[in-house]
Amino acid sequence: MSPYAHITGWGMSVPSQVLTNADLAQVIDTTDEWIRDRTGIQERRIAEPDQTTASLALEAGLQALRTANLNPAELDLIIVSTSSPEHIFPATACLVQDRIGAVHAGAFDLSAACSGFMFALNMASQAIRSGSISCALVIGSETLSRMVDWQDRNTCILFGDGAGAFVIQASPEPGGLLSAVMRSDGSGGDLLTVPAGGSRLPASLETVRNGQHFIHMNGREVFRFATRVMTSATKEAISAAKLTIADIHLVIPHQANSRIIEAAMRGLDIPSERCMINVERYGNTSTASIPIATCEAIQQGRLKAGDRVVFVGFGGGLTWGAAVIQWSGPFLRRRHVYPVSYRVWIRVRSRLLQLMRHIEGWLWGRNGPDQ
Ligand code: ACO
Repeated sequence: MSPYAHITGWGMSVPSQVLTNADLAQVIDTTDEWIRDRTGIQERRIAEPDQTTASLALEAGLQALRTANLNPAELDLIIVSTSSPEHIFPATACLVQDRIGAVHAGAFDLSAACSGFMFALNMASQAIRSGSISCALVIGSETLSRMVDWQDRNTCILFGDGAGAFVIQASPEPGGLLSAVMRSDGSGGDLLTVPAGGSRLPASLETVRNGQHFIHMNGREVFRFATRVMTSATKEAISAAKLTIADIHLVIPHQANSRIIEAAMRGLDIPSERCMINVERYGNTSTASIPIATCEAIQQGRLKAGDRVVFVGFGGGLTWGAAVIQWSGPFLRRRHVYPVSYRVWIRVRSRLLQLMRHIEGWLWGRNGPDQ
């Protein structure tokens, strides 16, 4: 019988620097009232210069491992979902894998804009369900503040930085991921895009002069698309789990805009007390928003072991998806502690391997086939 994929750890990391609507109104033509009315956002977090997508991911990931009482060396897989990776390559997930000391894990980035976490959660869970791995770390991390045009009031008011992470583990106990849907419609790709910096339009003085390295968005169309797919994907996932809306304790949607969420919940006939919203404090943290909202739902006592929760998201691509989860909580029977000495050893080992690679490269340069 195939194992079940349970979420056994969770963590989040947000920068401490807060940017309020009033702060924004001092630099662009907007008001606190306009932003609150149209989006529900009151403030967002902005990364300090020394914080990056990988550093936020690392903090969230370590917290998730601690909640799960899991040693990083037990991880088989790390997926970092992000639209603001540290580089085109190497993958941000590999940087996290190294810093975390996950010496037995494969690691890669997943790009599906704000739906990325839904896709990564499903991919990791299916790998567990298939029996090919038994333990994964899935992280959504963004520093979109570095990719918005701070002169463009249509976009810069929306986004915030942060990261959230889940540990997913195999178990014969029924529960965990009950169903998932993933959908895309590439014909709407230009509604939400960063036009330059890829192979189609490599970064140049001209692309920078034209602001093509920033996020460009058709807000009205994205709004229409979002309200439509949030409702349909939620219904589809619930019916795939052979449940009804009445069986769902909590919906945790992608936190883009409170009006989008409220419209979707009206369409589903789900009362506001069964929906988690925290967009007012973080803005749209893209792929990090669902795990961050989950961590806060747990802190607030709104999500407990045994509850059935729906995660639903949408984003650029266009992409959207939903999943129904029977919430597990940490597997407390596992008491893996990873002492400081172990973590120090992992870092030393990683640096030693790097040094050996350098020496090997240098020797190869001196004594290679051409010499
Ligand atoms: N302050 C004041 N006025 C503004 C601002 C602002 N920050 N931004 C736009 N306006 C103006 C516009 O210029 C426009 O003025 P005009 O009528 O004189 O041209 C007017 O307000 C109305 O603009 P709309 O775009 O129609 O405003 P709307 O009600 O649609 O709200 C918003 C805009 C908030 C962007 C909304 O469309 C939205 O939330 N869309 C979804 C966006 C989204 O969720 N994106 C993330 C997707 S997830 C991912 O993958 C990253």
